[in-house]
Amino acid sequence: MPKAKDSKSKAKGAPAAKKTAKKKSEKKPEAVSLERAGTVNDKIDLSPSEAEKEIRALEKEIRHHQYQYYVKNLPTISDLKFDQMFRRLQDLEKAFPDLMDPASPTLSVGSDLDKDFQKFTHRLPVLSLENTYSEEELLDWIQKTDPEALYSLEWKIDGASIMLYYENGILSNGVTRGTGGVGDDVTDNIRTIRSIPLRLEESVTVYLRGEVYMTYKDFEDFNESSEGRYANPRNLSSGSLKQKNSSDVAKRPLRIFTYDAFFPEAKVRFQTHSEIMKKVEELKFPVPPDTVLVKGTQISEAIRKFKKKKESVGFPTDGLVVKLNDLSTRQALGYTSHSPRWARAFKFDAMMKESKIVGIDYAVGRTGKITPRAEIEPISLAGTTVTFATLHNQDYINELGIGIGAIVRVSKRGEIIPAVEEVVTPGEKVFQIPRSCPSCGTKTEKREDSVDAFCPNPDCPDRVKNGIIFFSSRKQMDIEGLGEKQVEFLYDKKYIKDIADLYELQKKKDSLMEEEGFGEKSVSIILNGIENSKKKDFKFVLSSLGLREVGPKVSELLIEHGYESMDSIIKAVQKENSAESLMEIPGIGPSTVAALVESFTDKKVIKLVERLKSAGLKMKADPIQKADKQPFLGQIWCVSGSFENFQPREKAMDLVVYYGGRKVSSISSKTTHLLAGPGAGSKVDKAKELGVAIVSEEEFLETLKKNGIKY
Ligand code: IVH
Repeated sequence: MPKAKDSKSKAKGAPAAKKTAKKKSEKKPEAVSLERAGTVNDKIDLSPSEAEKEIRALEKEIRHHQYQYYVKNLPTISDLKFDQMFRRLQDLEKAFPDLMDPASPTLSVGSDLDKDFQKFTHRLPVLSLENTYSEEELLDWIQKTDPEALYSLEWKIDGASIMLYYENGILSNGVTRGTGGVGDDVTDNIRTIRSIPLRLEESVTVYLRGEVYMTYKDFEDFNESSEGRYANPRNLSSGSLKQKNSSDVAKRPLRIFTYDAFFPEAKVRFQTHSEIMKKVEELKFPVPPDTVLVKGTQISEAIRKFKKKKESVGFPTDGLVVKLNDLSTRQALGYTSHSPRWARAFKFDAMMKESKIVGIDYAVGRTGKITPRAEIEPISLAGTTVTFATLHNQDYINELGIGIGAIVRVSKRGEIIPAVEEVVTPGEKVFQIPRSCPSCGTKTEKREDSVDAFCPNPDCPDRVKNGIIFFSSRKQMDIEGLGEKQVEFLYDKKYIKDIADLYELQKKKDSLMEEEGFGEKSVSIILNGIENSKKKDFKFVLSSLGLREVGPKVSELLIEHGYESMDSIIKAVQKENSAESLMEIPGIGPSTVAALVESFTDKKVIKLVERLKSAGLKMKADPIQKADKQPFLGQIWCVSGSFENFQPREKAMDLVVYYGGRKVSSISSKTTHLLAGPGAGSKVDKAKELGVAIVSEEEFLETLKKNGIKY
């Protein structure tokens, strides 16, 4: 998260600030000597009235971008650009202190408050960190602070900041940073994050600070099943915390790293940050990996090691945090209005390069979402050649003033999707996304809660083609030889018009082999691929249909909870009180149930399913291989925590299933046993609440032994 944005103030605060600005301009401030102001910034050569104009403009712009970033989760400029603006405002305020607005965005920690949540007054101010923009600047700070002291050097996690309040060992509140003084109480959402314990093993009162994040892999999987709706893991993580329905949050693969804690009780006292973090780890909270304690003089070498590792950590990080380790020295150094003097954030260079926009086209996704893309002169960025960069939507294009011919700076957001971040030199006039679908010409629609334009036509060729591409993709039905190009060709040449037609392609083998680029070999690879896809488990068939909200996670949940065939799902959905039985499944919320009802009462969907069924696709989950003896028969097990003898822990669940039991990924009243190991979080509380038997690893081993089961 860009530090400067942490220092934003609420967008809604803008009018008040403007008022102050007016008053000040009436005062006609005198010129301030730079020396007197305490900073000598040779870039500031402005008259007070010029400075005032720039300061007011920057305040307004910074507030706007803070709002875009935190509240809407839709940044329209790069972090770097934002930080530059923020710095410029800080410099101007230093040079012209009389012109500083008391509500300047540089003074407050800012706000991501949302009217839909209860407010919670933080027990301690939730401060931000001062940024350093180069290693030189960081070393300078260390030099001034104490080069001989020990510093904790840790990953700066790029997620959503959160405070966890535990009273006597029980999670009482999970609260967003908000204004730093008051945050949104998102406890219900926080409770769904598996790595956050609901109850600690010690009855201790502790306030923890951490970052809710998502690994790149989880993000990619989730984003794929949500039709690629999210720009990066950070956006998805912070958006998730603000969901109104916690069962929707439960479906998102959120995790947490905690990086600071305060124990208000006098009985718990520490000398250093590392002692605090040791205690935090003992309390079973995940902490950022790789953290090291280094002397100030050795910081550069340590930074080099972190940089080398950056690509392989698997979670989003935008730099490092350097914290003085000794707590009494920290206390002596104190705080500025919004950040501690004993720590600095050190941001890695943003990976950005300049290129020219040579064209703009659009992708119409399988859901109908229209995404404009800039075709750029090829550049190499973070290990790949980039020729296209997303422009997100019309708001984004307008904000940046993007047109063909513009020289732009392109980044890889969250190191995944290349995006145009800034315009260096404007091109032709600002580009307008056409109001009709570029694929089928249907008038596009805007949907509530979305800045995107959508093609509403389910038969739109691009939507259908992308649906077939999704169906055949590796993570879904995994049809070898059938990639984007092949699907486009087959569709355009009328060999197929929907996914069920793939299974009739065999009949057209001869004419297909006549087509350019479709030799005997490639045709037989495709046909074999199609044939093999008939062996894919039902869970893949279900999630590959591309039905709204029915991605891999929902498919798995349905199957796990007894909806093991297409028929059973259709029956459940078509029953009058369908919502109730489906809603009982933990992780399935009202919006998913509504989507299921909508899909499975649609004649077209039912017909498609029937055709796929007659083609031989699996419409039922495979019977699980079972042992002759079935000691776990009738039992429903869930697992949480880590285990010495079962790594990964799924190995324990495989045994349960092989010997007759069922496994589920979340606890409900039907669950009979919870296998709980160290680190088991909220599931233990849920199990206690529902009277589910909690089984330790030792007890589980004992049961296996008793039944003569070897593992
Ligand atoms: S320490 C008083 N440590 O970065 C300062 N913050 O730009 C407490 N962040 O608002 C923060 N990783 O949300 C700290 N290892 C880490 C961090 C970290 C990410 C976030 C945090 C903070 C922002 C500052």
